Amino acid sequence: MEFERRVADFAAVKHCIATCNATVALEILVRALDLSGEVIVPSFTFVASAHALQWHQVTPVFCDIDPRTHNIDPGKVEHLITPRTTAILGVHLWGRPCPIDELQAIADRNGLTLLFDAAHAFGCKYKGQMIGGFGQAEVFSFHATKFINAGEGGAVVTDSDALANRLRLMRNFGFSGYDQVTSIGTNGKMGELSAAMGLTNFESLHEFIEVNRRNLELYNENLANVPGLSLLGYEEDQQPNYQYMVIEVDAAKAGIRRDELMSVLHAENVLARRYFYPGVHRMEPYCSLVPMAGSLLPHTQAVADRVLALPTGSAVIPQDISRICAIIRSALEHSGEIRETLVNRRT
Ligand SMILES: Cc1ncc(COP(=O)(O)O)c(C=O)c1O
Repeated sequence: MEFERRVADFAAVKHCIATCNATVALEILVRALDLSGEVIVPSFTFVASAHALQWHQVTPVFCDIDPRTHNIDPGKVEHLITPRTTAILGVHLWGRPCPIDELQAIADRNGLTLLFDAAHAFGCKYKGQMIGGFGQAEVFSFHATKFINAGEGGAVVTDSDALANRLRLMRNFGFSGYDQVTSIGTNGKMGELSAAMGLTNFESLHEFIEVNRRNLELYNENLANVPGLSLLGYEEDQQPNYQYMVIEVDAAKAGIRRDELMSVLHAENVLARRYFYPGVHRMEPYCSLVPMAGSLLPHTQAVADRVLALPTGSAVIPQDISRICAIIRSALEHSGEIRETLVNRRT
């Protein structure tokens, strides 16, 4: 279909198998790749990265992140490999490509499959090459909160003909022709309305990137030199889509905790959000299955407690950003009174 062709062309990859959402795309991919045993995945990600594995009785083994990039730390991956490990699932968090070359080298050395959750990374590049063509396959999300908005939608992209065939069958109940079912399958198809909506979004893709980049610059200008606040930057040479505007709050230096700042912003009608909090390993069923997982995830836990995503996108105008940043600066200046008010409100 037209949407699949556009995605495949744009991501410079041979096949696109569009699905109803990225979670189902991941689930179908896990099955089509015959993954079993354990798969190494970061815990600092959306819960669907892990659920797609656990759904097929594959155990997610959580790897810590590099606190500078928020992506999986390749230096920590090899220690987690056991005889049961079959794959590494990298996540390009915030649209920032994870260390693909290092992960591919580890996968090659250990005979593992490498796949990517690229839900955030449509339109991004890694060392000059579009995200989409790395590993065995990558998965995009086209949910309303993502860069290309199809309402709900996802896709697996791959250069492998054999894998693409399996994925297409599995997405459509295993039907290989009329009255002919040749594999296990589910209903993972993307609806026509979603595809049409996704296609209209393509027309504005470059504008979205430009607006998000401008927004990041404005936030940077307004929040530079605010003690205890740091903005997550992007590597320009990796052509980010700037979809997420992420700050970290160092409570000791800022004088205010991330959650206190979030409460102030919410009180002012600014929809700032914690993201990937508190870390997948601290959610069910994983926290019950592996209660001590956190001991190997110090950076994941620290970053999950510091991160705040601020509003961006084409609906956010420069005046909004000035106002949001003024609220943030004022919150830091009045942190003592704010803490007192929040404590009083709770008691
Ligand atoms: C990293 C990541 N993976 C997977 C998904 C699931 O995407 P979808 O909502 O299309 O199922 C999301 C959604 O937010 C995500 O952020």
